[in-house]
Amino acid sequence: MLAQLHLTDEQRWAVVEYIKTFSGRFEGKAISMNKAIVVPDPPGRTTELISSGSQLYRDAGCVKCHGESGKGDGPSANELLDSKGNSVLIPDLTKMPRKMGDKPEDIYRILITGMEGTPMPSYYDVLDESQLWAVVYYLESIVTGRRENCMGMMGRMMDMVGEECIGMQIDMTAARAKMMGRRGPGMMRRMRRE
Ligand code: HEC
Repeated sequence: MLAQLHLTDEQRWAVVEYIKTFSGRFEGKAISMNKAIVVPDPPGRTTELISSGSQLYRDAGCVKCHGESGKGDGPSANELLDSKGNSVLIPDLTKMPRKMGDKPEDIYRILITGMEGTPMPSYYDVLDESQLWAVVYYLESIVTGRRENCMGMMGRMMDMVGEECIGMQIDMTAARAKMMGRRGPGMMRRMRRE
């Protein structure tokens, strides 16, 4: 999934509204009627919270999928399927950036909502507020670095990682193929010499 930076805010909301028509769930509801999820203020980060988060990560079963190390190598990792029966790539939680955001409140939000359609469950009724923050701080403590950036247009380093990078490469290959089709190989050769 590539960042759609070329869209204005208004255009982004228009696309959001269009995508919502794919599901019956939003029928008749305007954006303003949906209640926003409130993430409570985080408590101070303490070593006690981090170590209780580490215990909860094990007790709540995160290890089953995400693995002891958080690298996505849990015993169930290879069997996970999404709601359509397609296999699911389990993220490496030790690397930034994460798909759903890197800020503590982003992680908290994911833990209470889960990720519908994927095996990532909601812990809304499972862990209480202070337990959720403990897990959030534990997840922060296991980060060892960033995923690798990718080489983009003209061999320049792009601030894109992982699946985004693959997406961008597919996008660029398609755009190149389209140009070749439109202009013919002769034109491409001329362009490269410039
Ligand atoms: C049944 C397997 C399963 C369990 C149990 C599980 N997860 Fe996940 N989790 C997933 C999968 C699969 C994804 C990725 C979904 C996707 O992006 O398609 C995910 C995504 C996440 C993400 C978002 C990563 C990102 O890139 O933004 C976080 C954070 C996370 N899990 C933390 C946890 C924690 C903490 C627990 C335990 C409290 C937990 N998960 C339990 C399967 C699981």
